[in-house]
Amino acid sequence: MHDVTSTRELLARYDRPGPRYTSYPTAIEFHDGITHDLYVDRLARLNRAGDQPLSAYMHLPFCEQRCSFCGCNVVITPHREVASRYLDALEQEIDLLAAHLPESRMIAQLHLGGGTPTYYTPEQLGRVFARFRRHFAFTPDAELGVEIDPRVTTFAHLDLLRSLGFNRLSMGVQDFDPKVQEAINRIQSYELTRDLLEHARSLGFGSINVDLIYGLPHQTEETFAKTLAQVLVLRPDRVAAYSFAFVPWMSAHMKELDRAALPPAESKLTLLAATVDAFIGAGYRAIGMDHFALPSDELARAVDTGTLNRNFMGYTVKTTTDMVALGVSAIGNVQGAFVQNTKKLPEYYAAVATGRFPIDRGYALDEDDEIRKHVITELMCNFRLDVLAVERRFGITFAEYFHDELATLSAPAESAVADGLVAVNPDRIEVHPVGRMFVRNICMVFDKYLARRTGGPKPVFSRTV
Ligand SMILES: C[S@@+](CC[C@H](N)C(=O)[O-])C[C@H]1O[C@@H](n2cnc3c(N)ncnc32)[C@H](O)[C@@H]1O
Ligand code: SF4
Repeated sequence: MHDVTSTRELLARYDRPGPRYTSYPTAIEFHDGITHDLYVDRLARLNRAGDQPLSAYMHLPFCEQRCSFCGCNVVITPHREVASRYLDALEQEIDLLAAHLPESRMIAQLHLGGGTPTYYTPEQLGRVFARFRRHFAFTPDAELGVEIDPRVTTFAHLDLLRSLGFNRLSMGVQDFDPKVQEAINRIQSYELTRDLLEHARSLGFGSINVDLIYGLPHQTEETFAKTLAQVLVLRPDRVAAYSFAFVPWMSAHMKELDRAALPPAESKLTLLAATVDAFIGAGYRAIGMDHFALPSDELARAVDTGTLNRNFMGYTVKTTTDMVALGVSAIGNVQGAFVQNTKKLPEYYAAVATGRFPIDRGYALDEDDEIRKHVITELMCNFRLDVLAVERRFGITFAEYFHDELATLSAPAESAVADGLVAVNPDRIEVHPVGRMFVRNICMVFDKYLARRTGGPKPVFSRTV
C-alpha cells in the first residue's frame, strides 16, 4: 500500500461516482425500446446460432425484513401468500421461455438470487426447480448456485438444495460486529452462520461463498479485523468483500442510516487494505476487484490462466455468452441484447398471464459497445488486456481506435499512468497492484456513455471507493 500522503492524493483524484460494471453499457443506459418482440427475435437468433449451453438466472425477491444497507431489488413482506402467488407466475414465465427454445436446452449455470431464495420453504423451492427441469437439462459440470440468508435458512433447505444438485452456495454475512449489525438492521450471530456453513460443507457443496461489506456504519479497522478473523476461522472457499454502495437517492431506506457513522473514503481504503492483507495472508487468491478464493477453488485457477469471466451473477469460469433471466427485475443477455424484466409485481403478473415476456427495458449492443464491453470485462476480471488479441478479435487498430482514451490514461501528469495505477504498452495494458483498488476508474476511461451521465445535478452512481 502507498504511504498515507500518496493514498490521500490518489483518493482526492479517484474517489468519485462511477459504475461497478456488472454490465457494459451499464443499466442506466437501458431504455424502453427493448420489448417482448425484440426478445423473441433474439431468442430465435439464439436457436439459429447452435446449441451452446446457456446461463440462467432466477430472481426470488422476497425477504422478511429489510437490511438498511440493501441495494438489491427486494420485496419485503411477512405475508407468505404474496410470495406463493409469485411462484405461480414464475412457473408461467419458465413455460413461456421454454416455448421459445428447443426442449431440453442445455444449461451450464443456474443461479437463484434475490432477495432471499430461502424465504421460500424447501417444498416451494423444489416445486419451482421441478418446473425448470421439466424443460431444461444441465451440462454434466453445470454450476447450480443459490444465495441464502443464514437467518432464515434451515438444514432442511440445504438438504433439499443439495439433493437437487446445487453445488454452489453464497451466504450473506456483511459484518459480525453487534454495533454494526444493529445499525444495519441485521442481527446474525457467528454461531448460526458457522453451524449452517458446516452443515453445507458436510453435504458436499463444492464451493461456499461468504459476502462481506466494508464501509458500513460504525465499522472501524479494529471491529472489522475481528470480523475478518472470524470469517477466516470459517474458511469459506470464496469471499466477496463489497464496497458499500451508498445510494440513498435510489434506495430511500438508506436515508435511515446515520451518515455521520459511515467511515470516510480514507477509512474505507484502510478497511479494504486490511481485507486484502487478511485473505492474502491466509492463503487466498485475489479475484478481480473485490473477491477472494482458496487456491483449490476453480476461480483461483482461472486467474492463473487469464480466463476469468464476469456476468450479472458475478465472477465465473463459465464462458457462456448468453444468459436467460426469469423473475421480476432480472436481467438477461441474449445475442447481444440486455433485457430487463419489470420491477413491478402487478406488471409482471399481467404480462406472463397473457403469454408475453415481462420486459420493461434493455439495450441492444452495437459493435463499438461490444469492443468496449470486452476491454472493460478483461480489465475488471484479469487486470490486464491483451491488446493484440483485441485487434485480432475485432479487426481494429487499438492505438487508433482508442487514441483519445490512451491519451487520457497516459497524460504526463495526474493520469492513471503517471499515478502508477496502470502500465500502457503497445501490446498490453496492465493494472498495477495499487491500481486494482481503482480499476473502476481505469475502466471509466473506456466508457463512452459516462460523460453525459456524470456531473449533472442528480447523483447516478455510488462512489468508486
Ligand atoms: C441478495 S443479497 C444475499 C442473499 C441474502 N439476501 C442475504 O442477505 O444473506 C446479495 C448481497 O449483496 C450485497 N449488497 C447488498 N446491498 C449492497 C450495497 N448497498 N452495497 C454493497 N453490497 C451490497 C450484500 O453483501 C448481500 O449479501
Ligand atoms: S441484504 Fe439480503 S436479506 Fe437483507 S434485504 Fe437485501 S436481499 Fe434481503
